Order: sequence, then C-alpha cells, then structure tokens
Amino acid sequence: MNIISMLKSDHKEVAAMLKKLLQSRTTKSRDSIFSKIYEALAVHAEFEEKTFYPAVKKTAKTKDLVLESYVEHDLIKILLSDIQNMSPKDELWKAKVTVLQEIIKHHVKEEEQDLFLEAKRILDKEQLNNMGKKYLHFKATAQIEVAGEPE
Ligand SMILES: [Fe+2]
Ligand SMILES: [Fe+2]
Repeated sequence: MNIISMLKSDHKEVAAMLKKLLQSRTTKSRDSIFSKIYEALAVHAEFEEKTFYPAVKKTAKTKDLVLESYVEHDLIKILLSDIQNMSPKDELWKAKVTVLQEIIKHHVKEEEQDLFLEAKRILDKEQLNNMGKKYLHFKATAQIEVAGEPE
C-alpha cells in the first residue's frame, strides 16, 4: 500500500476524532477519545520522523519543509502532553484542544499540499509501496507499546 495514502488516511481519522473530542461532553468520553488521538498521533509522528521525513529530505525545498515539520511536531507534542496532564474539566481544556486542532490542520495542509507532492517526485512507486508495508508493520507493533505506556 502506498505510504502517502496511508498517511493521508491517518490525517482524516485524526481530524474526525478531534471534531468528536470537541463535541464530547463527559469526562469519560473526553478521556477515551483523547487517548485514541494521542496514540494515533504518536505512531504517525514517529514513523514520519524516523522513516518518511529522512527519505524525502533530499532537495532544498523538501529540506525546509521537513525541518518545519519537525518543529510543528514538537509543538503538537507539547499540547498533547499539556492536555494529557489536565482534567477535561479544566477551564483551559477546550482552548488547548482547539489550538491543537488548528496546528494539526495547518501541519496536515502543508504535508498534503507541498511535502507529499514533492515526495512523489523523489520516491518511485515501488519505494512508496515498500514504505507503506513498513508502516503497516510498524503500526501493528508500535501501538501496543504506546498503549502500554503513555508518556
Ligand atoms: Fe502527517
Ligand atoms: Fe507530520
């Protein structure tokens, strides 16, 4: 399976979960939706950082885009950890989740409209498919670790 379609489908899934999170009202549902988002993003970001980004960081343009992406991931992780350490009843909870949603929207737009298009020029079909296979395997094994020990 093509890695770019897989990353895009994660983006869609996370956007839908964030929407659901902002509509949820009880502490229990907020906690459970948030932990799913946390886990999905941890796996997605780690694969991008360790495998996808290094493979596409080949031209001046993609190097800049990839470096920006690392910084955006850092911001996303700070917000995720803030939210994780916060009660959903906290007055700041909704503001933090809303800003998380905004940063992710911006980040996903840059990936899908710039970086992924460049990636398709840098990597051929076979490389994209091989990376997709690698990601499937990574998802199957990494999720257990993340679920077992949330940071
Ligand atoms: Fe992504
Ligand atoms: Fe990303």
